Amino acid sequence: MKIDHVAVVVKNIDEALKTYRDAFGLALARVEDVPAEGVKIAFLPFADGNSELELLEPTRADTGVAKFLAKRGEGLHHLCLEVANIEATAANLAANGLDVLEDEPRVGSNGQKYLFVHPKSAHGVLIELYQKPGK
Ligand code: CO
Repeated sequence: MKIDHVAVVVKNIDEALKTYRDAFGLALARVEDVPAEGVKIAFLPFADGNSELELLEPTRADTGVAKFLAKRGEGLHHLCLEVANIEATAANLAANGLDVLEDEPRVGSNGQKYLFVHPKSAHGVLIELYQKPGK
């Protein structure tokens, strides 16, 4: 299990880049607008090339990310763990009593699979499980 990304919800990506790009010195790879999910995402890879920081800025009010920001303010949104077999990992978590939020992994645009585990199941941290495409 590896960290794929750490996601931080922010009010404004340009403001947050002053902190994470300009002050911390992380490189900005790209900013993507994802209208389907109601977010703009900035991707800032760490130097080892295996994981990245994602800054999430909500672009509509009716999404989970927007509600998180309204309720809790800026901060850590989720931790994404890369696993080799997402179905087996999710089944094991469910068997251990954790609240896995999807019955089946969602499949992203590149064929990657992902799903979420409720933060109440993981000591307050929303966990995303991720499996690389083609694995
Ligand atoms: Co994520």
